[in-house]
Parts: sequence; C-alpha cells; structure tokens
Amino acid sequence: MERTHHCGALNASHQNKTVVLNGWVNKWRDHGGLIFIDIRDRYGITQVVFSPELNNDLYEASKKLRTEFVVSVKGDVRRRPDEALNLEMPTGEIEVVASELEVLNAAKTTPFEIMDEIDVHEELRLKYRYLDLRRQKLKTNLIIRSRVYQSVRQYLTDQQFLEIETPVLMKSTPEGARDFLVPSRNYPGRFYALPQSPQTYKQILMVAGFDRYFQIVKCFRDEDLRRDRQPEFTQIDIEMSFINEQDVKKIAGGLIAHLFSEVLNVDIYLPIPQLSFKQAIETYGTDKPDLRFDLPIQTITDCFAETSFQVFQSVLENKGSIACLKLSGASRISRKQIDKYVDEAKKWGAKGLAHFKYQNSQFNGGISKFLNNSEKTMLREKLHLEDDDLILIVADRYDITYHVLGEIRLLLGLEYNMVHKEQFKFVWIVDFPLLEYDEEEGRHVARHHPFTSPLTEDMHLLDNHPQQVRARAYDLVLNGSEIAGGSIRIHTREQQQKMFTSLNIDKNEANSKFGFLMESLEYGAPPHGGIAFGLDRLVMIMTHSETIRDVIAFPKTTSALSLMDEAPSPISQRQLDELKLKIDLKNEEEQIPK
Ligand code: AMO
Ligand code: AMP
Repeated sequence: MERTHHCGALNASHQNKTVVLNGWVNKWRDHGGLIFIDIRDRYGITQVVFSPELNNDLYEASKKLRTEFVVSVKGDVRRRPDEALNLEMPTGEIEVVASELEVLNAAKTTPFEIMDEIDVHEELRLKYRYLDLRRQKLKTNLIIRSRVYQSVRQYLTDQQFLEIETPVLMKSTPEGARDFLVPSRNYPGRFYALPQSPQTYKQILMVAGFDRYFQIVKCFRDEDLRRDRQPEFTQIDIEMSFINEQDVKKIAGGLIAHLFSEVLNVDIYLPIPQLSFKQAIETYGTDKPDLRFDLPIQTITDCFAETSFQVFQSVLENKGSIACLKLSGASRISRKQIDKYVDEAKKWGAKGLAHFKYQNSQFNGGISKFLNNSEKTMLREKLHLEDDDLILIVADRYDITYHVLGEIRLLLGLEYNMVHKEQFKFVWIVDFPLLEYDEEEGRHVARHHPFTSPLTEDMHLLDNHPQQVRARAYDLVLNGSEIAGGSIRIHTREQQQKMFTSLNIDKNEANSKFGFLMESLEYGAPPHGGIAFGLDRLVMIMTHSETIRDVIAFPKTTSALSLMDEAPSPISQRQLDELKLKIDLKNEEEQIPK
C-alpha cells in the first residue's frame, strides 16, 4: 500500500478521505470491543481504530500488534467523538478507521519504553541508540540541529562566504589538546592527525585569496570529556580577510540573530554586550559568565586596609583580594546552609568563607565582631546594604578569591531559583591575556592558539612582561557556556616567529611543525581573522538539553566509547602487520574496558 500521508498530517479537513499511513505502533490499547493504536513516524502520531463490526478479521489481526511493529494501515478519516477530541495534538481532531492492515516488520520487546520521560540508564539508551532516537525529544533536537545547518549556510552564503572543505587527514601539530592519530600504511612509522580544528588551513585559504570562508566541520580532540565536550564535535568555522574584531563580531552576531529567529523564532538584540576578561573575572568569577541572573561579585579589598581581623590582614600583606556576594533575605538562610557554602568554598580552594548579616541596621553574626565603625560605614556604602542582607566573603589570592565566589554565585543562583532558565543571554568576552603560564610544561602557552595576534599597544611588553600582553581575541558566551572563540591572526612571518619564541618553541620546532604556514605568510598574506562556533554546544543550549550527547545522533560516552558499535575496538593482526605496528599493553588497566 502506497503511503498517502505522514502521521502528523491529518486534520478535520481530511474527513471521509481514504488514506494510507506507514509507521511504528506507538501505543496499543484494547477499549473493550475496540482496539486503538497510535501510529508514529518522524512527523507525528495518528490514532487508528479497529472495530469488529466493520471488519472482524482485521480486528482480530490488530490484537496481535505490539508496540514498535512497523505497519501500513489503510482507512477512512473520521472526526473523533467530542469526548475523544485532543486539541493539544495536531491530529487530535480525527482518527483513521482501519480497513486494511499490513505488518511490514515485527519488533521484539524493546529494552526500554519509547517515551519522552524515561528513567533508564544512559548506557542502555546509547547501546540501543536507534530506539532512543525514536523518542520525541531527541528527534526534535536533531530536527532543530538540521535547521541550524541550513540557516547557517543560508546566512553565510548570503554574506558572500564560500563553503570550502579542508582535509580530515592532516599533519600532527599538537598545541592545546592531544591529537587523534591515524597510522599511514604507505609510510610506516608516520601518522596523520585528525584536525583539532581547521585553523591552519583556513588561514592559508585567506592567503590564497578566498576572502570569506566557512565550513561546518568535524573537529577531533583527545581531551578529558565533560557534560559539554565530545572527542569529536562540530564547528561552524569562519575566516575573513581585510577585517578587524568589529567585523567578525558583526558577522557572528548577525549569524546568531538569524539562527535564533529562523529556528526558534526568538529575537536576539544586537549588538551583543561585551565584557573585558578582567571585568568578567572580577564580577562573575569566570570568563564564561551566566548572565541569566544578577548577583555580581563586589570587591571590598579597600574597606579592610586597616583591618584587625587576622585572616584578612595576612591576605592583604600578600597582595591578595577580598570580595563578596550580597544576597537578600538573610533570615531565611540558616547557619547550616551557610556552613554548606563554607564547605563548598573550601572544595573550590578557598581557606574559608566569612559572612555577616545586616539586620535592623546592625551587623550580625560571622565576622561582624571584627568590624570597626569605619569599616562598617564603608561596607554599608559600598555594598548599598539593605535590611536582611547576607554577605559572603572570600579573602585569598586574586585568582582564588574570584574563582571561588564565581562558583558560589552559580550555586546560589540555582539554589534560590534566580536563573531565568528560558532566557538566552549572550556576552562577548574580550581583552584576554595572550599567554598563560603552564605549570606542567614550565613555559608560557597561548591562551587561544599561537596564531592569535597581540594587541598592537601591548606589543612592546612581549619580551619582558609577556603575561601582561592582551590578545586580539574574543569569545562568545551564552548562558555560562563558551559557544565560540576566535581572534585576529598574526599575518607576517616575523611576528609569527616572535610569537613562537615567546612560547619557548625554538626555530627548528616551529619550522618543522608550522613551516608551511610561516612560509605562506611570506607570499602576500592579507590581514585576517575569524571565529569558530561549537555547534553542538549551541544546539544544546538552543534545545535546553542537559548534555551535549542529546544533540548528537551517535555520541560517545564521557569515557570516549561508542556503546552501539563498540568503538574503539581492537584490530586484526593482519591490519597491524600492514601498518607495521606492535601493541604493547603493560598492564590490565590499559586494556579496553568492556
Ligand atoms: P576553540 O578551541 O575555542 O577555537 O573552539 C571553538 C569552539 O568549539 C567548541 N568546542 C567543543 N565543543 C564540544 N566538544 C569539545 N571537545 C569542544 N572543544 C571546543 C567550543 C569552542 O568555543 N580554531 C579556533 C577558532 C578560531 O580561532 O577561529 C578554535 O578551534 O564551543
Ligand atoms: P577562623 O579565625 O579561622 O576561625 O576564621 C573565621 C572566619 O573566617 C570563618 O568563618 C572562616 O570560614 C573565615 N575564613 C577563614 N579564612 C578565610 C578566607 N581566606 N577568606 C574568607 N573567609 C575566611
């Protein structure tokens, strides 16, 4: 029987039409004398009725149907009786009275029920991913993801960007995460690397004169995974010539506004606000601030210049910082809760978390006994203290103070329901430090990547105060997640060489890793820059998903396994021999976990 309609298509206007639907049995129920099934496909669900009066054989056959059988049903569309109308469902006004039934394929009882709210271990869902993907929530996520690809292509193509593919087998140039490697059979002992990003290729496309490039591209990073990280993930990768930071931000903002309007029908107001790295750290304790709620960190170091409180004194002697969070409604917060925040603060690396309450114009509890009148006056003014405020204070090294308060801020935001979960709050973070010191490697490493240009006015600091140099880099943050990052690039060989020197990468190493790029910079490289969006993260937030895995058709677990096809898997001795590889497992733990 040839399908005439999808399962989401029929409504009152189709009454009395004879139709054929194909799909999966979503639900089967016996209503004493009538069998009802819901039949489901990608587009929706339609109710089908089997009645013994109309066709007893068919009625008997319908009793044998089970959920997830694949069926083809012919029947007439009729309006449901008033009491059975379901106006929440697009097809809820009608049902199909079956006149023919064909079972296209039977199905075993599924290891979990196909419904939105299921309480099964994610491992089982990942093993039977094709069943998991039948659930409406995941299906909707992938449909939105597909619309995102189309909108990105449409917007960027309209802006004269060319979509150009770059290699998946490339040279290993680890800088940042670890590479995934692919052994070469033709050149035993040599390896291709899977790209961590197409960074070098897209810059070379600018040297080649393509002016505006984009690609929706898989990237591979062998790094520790988290809720919002996968070993392979997708970027919307963008590069442009003859531009500055403003131009990149304008395209990126325009792209976001277009996406949100086309795909979600949500207006994003442009331009997207901007914070410096320093402002972000000192106000939110992170360079990925969640602006869906207020609760800024406030610096109160100055108020304690003459403090007699020993803890604060010693922090100030060591040039540390004192900062706090102000929460209203102190009386609802018990001693026990405060103790919990203290433990939390210690977990994040602080030595403690001091507090006081401001009630009936008095400083109460906690460290209030250590405060003198002038400190109280300063605090009252600086923090605009109001009745029933609770102040939580960390005094420590600059980085610890703000980081810990940033974590406490997030905790309080969730605990007191301050986060407007339905909102989309974007912010640009700019003026990043160019370099950061890597304790493990004992050298400076590029915070973004080594092709990022320093701020022109900070260039003179590169030799003697490298840590003070700011980068021409920008990150786009959405609801506390970094969804894009980019920079204006270095476009002369001389500068690029200088940058490698600052990173303690000697000439030979720089040449063997990036000689091809540096050489290209000598043949007329235009000033250029770009950005890359983490598409999975973006879609995860757009769909209000809990994890990045919910927006990827076939994701890996947090231990980088694919449970459905069991990758990574051992390979045959013949394959190893061909590649001239020997496996040397030193102990049990190195074996592949089951
Ligand atoms: P960056 O390394 O910041 O920049 O990556 C860009 C964006 O990709 C996303 N992302 C990830 N998403 C999921 N899983 C991961 N493991 C993962 N790692 C990164 C983030 C991030 O903001 N070549 C530069 C871009 C440029 O300079 O133009 C780059 O790759 O959302
Ligand atoms: P103590 O004198 O060590 O008992 O500390 C008094 C109060 O100060 C306690 O509430 C501690 O949690 C708090 N405290 C200790 N060290 C710090 C710190 N570095 N920053 C903020 N509060 C602290």
